[in-house]
Amino acid sequence: MNILLIGSGGREHAFAWKLTQSPLLSKLFIAPGNAGTADMGINLSISPTDFDAIKKAVLDNAISMVIVGPEDPLVQGIHDFFIQDTKIAHIPVIGPQKQAAQLEGSKQFAKEFMNRHAIPTAAHITVNPENIEEGYSFLTAQKPPYVLKADGLAGGKGVLILDSIQEAKQELQNMLQGKFGEASKQVVIEECLHGIEMSIFVLTDGKDYLILPEAKDYKRIGEGDTGLNTGGMGAVSPVPFATEKLRTHIEHDIIQPTITGLQKDTLPYCGFIFIGLMVENETAKVIEYNVRMGDPETEVVFPRIESDFLELCIAAGEQKLSKKSIRIKPETATTVMLVSGGYPGSYEQGKKMDGLESPTNSLLFHAGTKRNEHNELVTAGGRVLAVTSYGKTKDEALRESYNTISRISFEKMNYRTDIGFDLDI
Ligand code: AMP
Ligand code: GLY
Repeated sequence: MNILLIGSGGREHAFAWKLTQSPLLSKLFIAPGNAGTADMGINLSISPTDFDAIKKAVLDNAISMVIVGPEDPLVQGIHDFFIQDTKIAHIPVIGPQKQAAQLEGSKQFAKEFMNRHAIPTAAHITVNPENIEEGYSFLTAQKPPYVLKADGLAGGKGVLILDSIQEAKQELQNMLQGKFGEASKQVVIEECLHGIEMSIFVLTDGKDYLILPEAKDYKRIGEGDTGLNTGGMGAVSPVPFATEKLRTHIEHDIIQPTITGLQKDTLPYCGFIFIGLMVENETAKVIEYNVRMGDPETEVVFPRIESDFLELCIAAGEQKLSKKSIRIKPETATTVMLVSGGYPGSYEQGKKMDGLESPTNSLLFHAGTKRNEHNELVTAGGRVLAVTSYGKTKDEALRESYNTISRISFEKMNYRTDIGFDLDI
């Protein structure tokens, strides 16, 4: 069958890599893709939110299934667009419809969902310009640091964690006055959770689900988790502190009530759920839902999946996941993200990349890359390349990733040398 994959990051290259291993795949199209996905299928120069152009590509290329990588098209209703158009309504879209995509598109929606279904999460209040005084009182009752979240999508930048109460109150005002545009017209203030973060991933057809390998990502730009937040600088899977007891608790108290909650609320859901957790004393609370896979988590999660992933996506699309199971490789996978100097602030693009042809045991997942007019591989984004390796242990896998990185170069290349640093205790 022909598949259209929507997106252009390292996550989508990892999807493409996994899909091309399936005997069920005929042709893979990626919209818009990057230089890495161009080796896996046919890149189409279409924006992920240009639904009319996507429809045309689906009809022109006899596409039998659409897999959506990023959140934007989901939150904007790509799945609903397909359902409402008789010419394409029969084509399964892997990714939830607009209403359920609010689990990521609105923090307030996600908090109400969790409270309604008794899913453990931080205490919160939702503030708008009318009840700002209640917001101040909630803040005053909290211990620092103070957690403020723009309600809507803010490109990963909408969460502020502040040490001083004065600053928190000031930022609350700034956010309500449009610091993050429309996204912060409402603000969710949360109790600050403590512990260590991990991410779990579920593929669901709305009734049944499969749990994919879990991962931990490293969001800060600087060593030791310091500096500005990024899209993610590296990831490790499995997470060594995820004991059997913790996994059982997560499945029973978080995953199952999430799936039954979707049913009770009549929110049809076919696709991935990425649940960000804070874990303390083998107890987990939900920090956030995302309605897609993580990036760079996918670059360690998919390499650990042994099963035919396309077969699982087909089953999800046909609501037959109950008949499927997932086989997972025991090895550890690590990924280290190479980024452009300056990222997550301003950075230059178009830097020639060298060393990608050298023999390596690593998997190179392209994020921001393209071919220039001389067909040379050049940088085309902040996050450039995810270098994934396997090992019997995290340290063995990381050694391999850093070994591969030592042979890759581009001007002002930057990366963290301490991925996994907090997992030894
Ligand atoms: P989010 O976009 O909701 O995932 O938040 C971004 C990051 O902020 C998370 O990955 C956490 O590191 C941090 N964070 C969010 N909510 C909380 C919270 N309630 N307590 C502590 N840290 C948080
Ligand atoms: N790595 C975090 C995310 O994909 O949202």
